[in-house]
Amino acid sequence: MQLPPLKSVTVEVLVDNFFDVFEPSRPGVVERVVLGRLKKPLVAAHGLAFWITLHKDGEQGQILMDSANSPLPLLNNLEALEHNLDEVDALVLSHGHPDHYGGLQEVLKRRKKVLPLYLHKDCYYPKLLVTPRGRLGPWKLDREALLEAGVELHENTGPTLILDKALLTGTVEASTPYETPLPGPKRLVAGAEENDPFSDEQALVMQVAGRGLVIMAGCSHPGIVNMVKYAQKLTGINEVAAIIGGFHLTAGGPDLIRHTITGLQEINPQLIIAGHCTGFKALTQLALAFPDNFMVSCVGTKVMIGA
Ligand SMILES: [Fe+2]
Ligand SMILES: [Fe+2]
Repeated sequence: MQLPPLKSVTVEVLVDNFFDVFEPSRPGVVERVVLGRLKKPLVAAHGLAFWITLHKDGEQGQILMDSANSPLPLLNNLEALEHNLDEVDALVLSHGHPDHYGGLQEVLKRRKKVLPLYLHKDCYYPKLLVTPRGRLGPWKLDREALLEAGVELHENTGPTLILDKALLTGTVEASTPYETPLPGPKRLVAGAEENDPFSDEQALVMQVAGRGLVIMAGCSHPGIVNMVKYAQKLTGINEVAAIIGGFHLTAGGPDLIRHTITGLQEINPQLIIAGHCTGFKALTQLALAFPDNFMVSCVGTKVMIGA
């Protein structure tokens, strides 16, 4: 699939699980917030939201990918980072988990124009989690409520180009033997519970001219290496400028962490920014394995590729 080259991509982490004022910056590439210059305090929460700005041929595109676990951190941090929802051109949902769509209805209530929302059609299956502390859920993304809110729904299953600037992969093709569905996450299909294959999760992929792919992942339930390899296959581009998002690794145990690190070393990305559901153990091991090109995603972190 032909993915148009962009001049630059800027990704700002609106909501993530982490905030650490001591995480270093990398001038011109990764900038952290300066506390004294914020309009109000930032809030970290178990959820994810990215403010993504794309530049191509003098045009700008603005994407809000995911909307955190609730309106509280999302609206607070939009204000703290001085972003306005009226600037958004498109909404993207990475997958159908509530820590990624929790603020969506509030975004739609506050927007001044009809917005396109891109999501996989399997996001509507009710989702559950079986954890050592019991069963959680089910949660269900309410399609009728989205339509009532006046959103323009774009439901895909396969690769889709959005704003003529970015690619949504559709269901991720599995290619690694070690990234297999975990036993905890479930979905309900026609009332029957099954292990969630995460057919609904997709990566958002951009190409920056002269740099390669920028690959954004919500929770990486299909496996971050699978997601990157599928993005490479779809676009025919092997260079990876940045991989950004939640990698959901610690929950998969030490073997998954080890194999994933080897897989990422083979991909050899210029930058890895991981947070959200990656888990502390996996973050520390990624930091050791990639001493020069791994950074923790924190609320307010700004990543600039080609800018
Ligand atoms: Fe998830
Ligand atoms: Fe998540």
